Amino acid sequence: MKHQPVEGFSKLTKQGKIDWIINEYLDGDQTYETVLKQYWNDNAELQKLHEEFSENTISNFYMPYGIAPNFLIDGKLLALPMAVEESSVVAAASKAAKFWLDKGGFKTTIINTEKLGHTHFIFKAESHKILHFFNFSLKKKLFEATEDITANMRKRGGGILNIELIDKTAELPHYYQLKASFDTKDSMGANFINSCLEQFGKTLKEEVQKEESFTQEEKDSLQVVMNILSNFTPDCIVRAEVSCKIDDLNDDSGISNEEFAWKFKQAVTIAEIEPYRATTHNKGIMNGVDAVVIATGNDFRATEACAHAYAAKDGRYKSLTHCTIENGIFRFWIDLPISVGVVGGLTNLHPLVKFSLALLGKPSAQELMSILAVSGLAQNFAALRSLVTTGIQKGHMKMHLFNILNQMKATEDEKQYFVNYFKDKTVSHHEVMSELERLRKS
Ligand code: MEV
Repeated sequence: MKHQPVEGFSKLTKQGKIDWIINEYLDGDQTYETVLKQYWNDNAELQKLHEEFSENTISNFYMPYGIAPNFLIDGKLLALPMAVEESSVVAAASKAAKFWLDKGGFKTTIINTEKLGHTHFIFKAESHKILHFFNFSLKKKLFEATEDITANMRKRGGGILNIELIDKTAELPHYYQLKASFDTKDSMGANFINSCLEQFGKTLKEEVQKEESFTQEEKDSLQVVMNILSNFTPDCIVRAEVSCKIDDLNDDSGISNEEFAWKFKQAVTIAEIEPYRATTHNKGIMNGVDAVVIATGNDFRATEACAHAYAAKDGRYKSLTHCTIENGIFRFWIDLPISVGVVGGLTNLHPLVKFSLALLGKPSAQELMSILAVSGLAQNFAALRSLVTTGIQKGHMKMHLFNILNQMKATEDEKQYFVNYFKDKTVSHHEVMSELERLRKS
């Protein structure tokens, strides 16, 4: 069926939107309305709050919210909140946390917390004139023009750290940038940075018009293309690491500690040199990072984009984690660039986000960076540990078993039966289905 475009969809009431969607796309089948309403919250105030997070909302989309306990991070014992739909992720994190608990836990170091943004502009004037104008006039004016915007942030110890003029004309004719670095303290700072940058764009236009060293033709050539923060923050970065004697690795999979350490290091090295593997390896890291990013109300698209840009920073996509074995010591670490906040955004609004932050002891943004890096490292440790020993399917399919059983509307008794049934067997979709059929027939 050919569908008709809609005018003013956003202005329809919620019921109006649902009616239109169901009539236009779902053959008027009212059972879909029940599906949507099943996910509404009975608490009208909470429901309204959710609807106001985004636009054109007609329901809520829930995610499982789990806890990975026993994370010893810089001497503090934490239980991590994880919002993730994939089975095994929380179990793997918990297992890795437990593994490192009696080996000193995870240690972290904040390497830097600088965030970046740019005013991108085209200016057909001579480079040396632009540089002179920037150094001797514009730079100061940019700081002055943003004083009101930065006042609060400066009170909190943050603000604009530096502004540089970058000549990009070798890559695109007449292209320059105002590249600014920021300290946004406990906020992610997206609004703050973008407000400063938009002011830079305005001030740049005004000051170019006033500048006597430019001809009128040069002045008229200025085009501010855009003002926007960069989600690539290689200088907002945290290191998380674990280490122990090889003798203490105590892997329970039946291979020796030496062989385990060697295979583990090989797996990391493969992800350092082979982009196909690195992509999956880093995806596994982000399983851990994103789950906590979402639970704490941060922007997982930003953390994903940044992590992958960083993984490719040397011209080839690589592993974010690294491993060494030296003098009998196994060391495993991650350098994770990540920009997150614990104030602003959803953090003061979403009740579960508030819960997550309270559970983590109301961390500062830097402490949250550490927790996120640890979550990624732990996830990667658990994945590699399985991959180089038993393989991941054994654990994974056990969790997947419940997804299959739920799809088949299995009763609690049937679920219990299958947990016992697969105690010593590898789960397969086929086996579950045929055994369920047999069980139900009998
Ligand atoms: C699955 O979501 C993640 C893994 O594939 C990660 C990895 O292979 O390292 C298990």
